[in-house]
Amino acid sequence: MCGIVGYVGPKSTVDVLLGGLKRLEYRGYDSAGVSVINTLGTLETRKKAGKLSILVDDIYKTPLGEAHIGIGHTRWATHGAPTDGNAHPHLGGNTQKLSLIHNGIIENFSELKSELLEAGVSFASETDTEVAAHLIAREYDKTNDLIESFRTVVRRLHGAFTILVMHEDEPGVVLAARRNAPLVIGLGEGENFLGSDVAAFVEHTKRAISVGQDEIVILRKDAVEIENFAGHKIEREEFLIDWDASAASKGGWSSFMAKEIADQPQSVADTLMSRVSSDGTVHLEELAPLTSLLPKIDRIIMVACGTAAYAAEVGKYAIESWARIPVSVELSHEFRYRDPILTPNTLVVAVSQSGETMDTLMATRYAKEAGATVLSICNTQGATLAREADAVLYTHAGPEVAVASTKAFTSQIVSMYLLALHIAGIRNTRSLNELQDTGKNLLKLPAQIADVLSNTQGIRSLAKAYKDAETVLFLGRNVGFPIALEGALKLKELAYIHSEGFAAGELKHGPIALIEAGQPVIVIVPSPNDPDSLHAKVISNIEEIRSRGAKVIAIAEEGDQRVAQHAEEVFFIPKVQQMLAPVLSVIPLQIFAMELSSAKGLDVDQPRNLAKSVTVE
Ligand code: M6R
Repeated sequence: MCGIVGYVGPKSTVDVLLGGLKRLEYRGYDSAGVSVINTLGTLETRKKAGKLSILVDDIYKTPLGEAHIGIGHTRWATHGAPTDGNAHPHLGGNTQKLSLIHNGIIENFSELKSELLEAGVSFASETDTEVAAHLIAREYDKTNDLIESFRTVVRRLHGAFTILVMHEDEPGVVLAARRNAPLVIGLGEGENFLGSDVAAFVEHTKRAISVGQDEIVILRKDAVEIENFAGHKIEREEFLIDWDASAASKGGWSSFMAKEIADQPQSVADTLMSRVSSDGTVHLEELAPLTSLLPKIDRIIMVACGTAAYAAEVGKYAIESWARIPVSVELSHEFRYRDPILTPNTLVVAVSQSGETMDTLMATRYAKEAGATVLSICNTQGATLAREADAVLYTHAGPEVAVASTKAFTSQIVSMYLLALHIAGIRNTRSLNELQDTGKNLLKLPAQIADVLSNTQGIRSLAKAYKDAETVLFLGRNVGFPIALEGALKLKELAYIHSEGFAAGELKHGPIALIEAGQPVIVIVPSPNDPDSLHAKVISNIEEIRSRGAKVIAIAEEGDQRVAQHAEEVFFIPKVQQMLAPVLSVIPLQIFAMELSSAKGLDVDQPRNLAKSVTVE
């Protein structure tokens, strides 16, 4: 849940590190720090509690020396409050010549700390991380071999960690180790990089290598070696990053979230690109590893957390309806603790923007061990989830930096439509015409999203008007239900307002007791043309709450004349095949949450207590 960056090369190291941390700040933003070994051979460290900008200002006022090697860290606190002292890097040994940064949790740190305290080591922080710094420094004092000392210590650590280490007496090398936390290498000409994800160095190089579980990296300016914890060399293939560096910057928008919401016509087009031909036929070559399995799967289990789980819920409707396979959606952190039934004919679909969410990774590993096949729907190239799955469907939404997921969500949903159509085609559960018509409807989505985005003034004003609301409720039915849940999650995380999403039909079974005069309720209204008369049922649900004083804000289909008589405010989305409506109806809710957060003066991109990717369980 922290961001790490490392660099060896000719560029100004402080600039490379701070630039990398800026792009990784979404991973944690309660403190930040860097260490460099300057050209005089001295280790210099600077670290500060608070946002990265505080560290940047400090370094601007009192610059660090010129350096060509360094490590940097942006923190999301687990052990120890966010203070200057607990910020990383941590220094090891009496001479304080070793500097270390860490992402993850060292689960056996208490026992290691007791051992060090008994040996007379004193600690400068309350973190679990500092034990690793002292242990490696102590080994190095004994062996004078930094790599061997590093191997010895990482083998002793339990839990999740990516660790980067430098030592003043070995000024040309950064060592890194990873277990259950992400690490990617960036390969340059006469320079090399390390990062929690490729965003850390994509402005410098597009060539990358994803580091495997329990592996060590020995990074020099002109050489990169990978080995396992036992010291055996490992070869890993490099890949090309297809993200544009500018895509990871705000590009003039007031926030990353504003930019990412606006990116959605393009990000959805990128998800569809080369996968749907103009006649609506879907081709998913990435699913070749599943060719023999797909005709015989009897069940799909989707595992995901947060917004990704709501995208999976939409996917469930599409797959069950089009491909006629039973689908269940499970929160990753619940899944493996309830002894789920998995067989070789179960397909587990793990959905994750980052591909590093620890709960989802652990669910995936559990499923594989139990004999299931895993498909990951992932946005980040080289992510652990992508590497560990049997097949990967990349969402291609581009880098998502704001903590609140927006464009990754719509691209996840679209990826699931593609998956559903692909499986339906293989299993002949729908006619070719029907499948192609839906494929053609998918191709219309980017323009329809642009249409929604071109008319957002009303929802923005509404958000401002509700800035003092204490509770906002969201209702939906069918595919609108997960969108109600997503709208409520966006509002909680961005505006710190209590909000709940309900299936509209569930209201009368309890939640209607919450309704009192003036209670804002946002309702996702199905198309008036839906074949199951859900529109009429939702209108009845609206009337039930209005008669108890609720103020209803409806998201409805263009041309729905009836709804205006039943709501205080209506926002229209273009007419679209009902199953595809979530991709459009979520957009006003994303904007509502973002604007309400801004109106309250909150940090839209970095809400309190959160981090973009949750790499601890
Ligand atoms: O990277 P992932 O998609 O696995 O992340 C899952 C959730 O942590 C994430 O969607 C979270 O709920 C977002 N902050 C929601 O906006």
